[in-house]
Amino acid sequence: MPRNILVTNALPYANGDIHLGHLVGYIQGDVWVRYQRMRGNTVHYVCADDTHGTPIMLRAEKEGITPEALIGRVHGQHLRDFTDFGVAFDNYHSTHSPENRAYAEDVYARLKNAGFIDTRAIEQFYDPVKEMFLPDRFIKGECPKCGAADQYGDNCEVCGAAYAPTELKNPYSAVSGAKPVLKTSEHYFFRLSDPRAVAFLREWTRGTSADGTRRLQAEAANKMKEWLGDGTTGDGENTLSDWDISRDAPYFGFEIPGAPGKYFYVWLDAPIGYLASFRNLADKRGDIVVEDFVDPTRAAAAGTEMVHFIGKDILYFHALFWPAMLEFAGYRTPTQLCVNGFLTVDGAKMSKSRGTFITARSYVDQGLNAEWLRYYFATKSNGTMEDVDLNLDDMIAKVNSDLVGKYVNIASRCAGFISKRFEGKLGATDAAATDAFKAAFESGAISQAYEERDYGRAMREIMHLADLANQYVNDNKPWELAKQEGREAQLHGVCSTALTLFRDLTRYLKPVLPALAAKVEAFLAIEPLSWQETWAALPAGHSINAYAHLMTRVERKQVDALLEANRESLAPAAAETKAASSQQRHAEKQQHEAQSAETAMAHISIDDFTKVDLRIARIVSAEHVEGADKLIRLQLDIGEEKPRQVFAGIKSAYDPATLVGRLTVMVANLAPRKMKFGMSEGMVLAASDPDGKTGGLYILSPDNGAAAGMRVK
Ligand code: MSP
Ligand code: ZN
Repeated sequence: MPRNILVTNALPYANGDIHLGHLVGYIQGDVWVRYQRMRGNTVHYVCADDTHGTPIMLRAEKEGITPEALIGRVHGQHLRDFTDFGVAFDNYHSTHSPENRAYAEDVYARLKNAGFIDTRAIEQFYDPVKEMFLPDRFIKGECPKCGAADQYGDNCEVCGAAYAPTELKNPYSAVSGAKPVLKTSEHYFFRLSDPRAVAFLREWTRGTSADGTRRLQAEAANKMKEWLGDGTTGDGENTLSDWDISRDAPYFGFEIPGAPGKYFYVWLDAPIGYLASFRNLADKRGDIVVEDFVDPTRAAAAGTEMVHFIGKDILYFHALFWPAMLEFAGYRTPTQLCVNGFLTVDGAKMSKSRGTFITARSYVDQGLNAEWLRYYFATKSNGTMEDVDLNLDDMIAKVNSDLVGKYVNIASRCAGFISKRFEGKLGATDAAATDAFKAAFESGAISQAYEERDYGRAMREIMHLADLANQYVNDNKPWELAKQEGREAQLHGVCSTALTLFRDLTRYLKPVLPALAAKVEAFLAIEPLSWQETWAALPAGHSINAYAHLMTRVERKQVDALLEANRESLAPAAAETKAASSQQRHAEKQQHEAQSAETAMAHISIDDFTKVDLRIARIVSAEHVEGADKLIRLQLDIGEEKPRQVFAGIKSAYDPATLVGRLTVMVANLAPRKMKFGMSEGMVLAASDPDGKTGGLYILSPDNGAAAGMRVK
């Protein structure tokens, strides 16, 4: 009985580019889908953009466009990125869609009827300038544990402490720079504290689906055990907290029916977007019965599956909230979660300054082959939640030696003889040489590895077979046979046999290298390869087409160009960075140097001047720095996502309160410096008397009409 599977990938946020980190999970999903189809199973593969929430609303505002315009533009970019990497969804929809609104309202109404929705007033930080409640990520301040400046409202990146935003010292809004105030508002909650919820989730996360597959990988199940307790310590010991599912206006999302000014939190309608995309696909296609996938009774009867591919950072949402929402709203729950680890590049977190934060678009634009990456990711995927390292040299080596050196090489060494000497027709196959291949096909070992998403194991098995095929060609040396008279039949047999072996390797690689496999199918003039046929050699007399070049080698210089294209550097300010150890002295010295430099000015070129990135900055906050005689801490808006912090030695001349709201000029590309009081991310310009006799300091102001972020040149 063929399986009937709805497969999804996590819905990417509609405010960022797809990067190679994202692609780990999307490629894993796509490979699995292609494999299942080659087995003859029916798969509906859907995804969508995740479009709601505060960051998307603010991003659109900053660009001066509507959220709808932003998500429309990004939708096109994301779809193109996925398509170019061979990730072939049947439907790529949006959570900002009528289907999604309908499902979200239905799930909510059913949860409410079942007694799972509660309201209660909560107190939260509110930005009085921007007039909105602030998500934790939009509140910054000093870490309550270690005092590090500029930490987010949920955890400290310096010491790792986790806390509530209300615990931050000197909090400020990352949106406007204003000091947030506490304000009360009524919120809607999904009552996960209901004992039914923990009981259900304990069972669900540990269980297996109808076909015996574990719903969660072992490590994911263990994580859930930590979150849910094991239930041995008595009833009600481990309860979950209720989940806050509403947000106040202004918010980009769906308004909650019967609750004016209240919106569904983005994570409520995001996974529902899987169903919305599926519904949208079914409406377009007309031959899919959605109820067989979403109604629990009908799904059980029809034996349909629902499989989600996600990254490990969103396990919590998919293994707790999502199945609980579905269960208590009377929908079918997921069959399986396939959780991938995070991508590192050359052993480290992706980094913009090293150029390893590589966008999907730049990879394609630099002319790299998407299937190189698909193959490399496949070799590194083992079906667990372990992180995946993209080691660039290793990728080059693997692609060049496995794909070009072993696999493609078989065809390129044999195909020419068939065309030139045998009019493109195959001869008889040497059965003894194909035995191992026939046995491999019949054993199902490679197939099993794909099923378990242990693609690394599959690739190793395949390369083992590629070694055998190369051995066969090396032992029989068609290029020598071709030079000897009377060896025609043998030459014909060896090349034909080798092409059957090559055909098999192509079948096995096809889920990973679909574009390459399509070229091979055209070259061999065969039907699309699948796992359903019974094994047989390519028949004698079969005509093939002329061999066309299949894949080039990766060059290190291509990879270097890719890194260069992704590198975002702050031009280093020469000697500045390695100066004084006492940070305060350093700031003072810098001030001093700036002054005395005027007396010793040689000519500089225009190029020297344009190295300095001068920007109009709006002072969003200014405050005294405890323990510093001369410094004022400024937060400067230069049109970036978050304000820059700069320590300016202007305390003697200005009262911080008079600075807030002013426009001034800053050097935006000075290398950031860690100071005793926090990072300083630039420099404010000030005029002063050359020998400092008057003691006067004067910061600059632009004329009316200048705006934060404008370049000064
Ligand atoms: N919008 C949510 C998902 C909602 S699903 C109902 C989201 N979006 S995301 O754009 O941040 O991430 C999309 C997918 O990419 C997620 O599965 C996430 O785990 C994955 N990854 C994002 N960065 C990644 C790496 N650096 N490495 C591996 N996977 C990564 O989360
Ligand atoms: Zn800290």
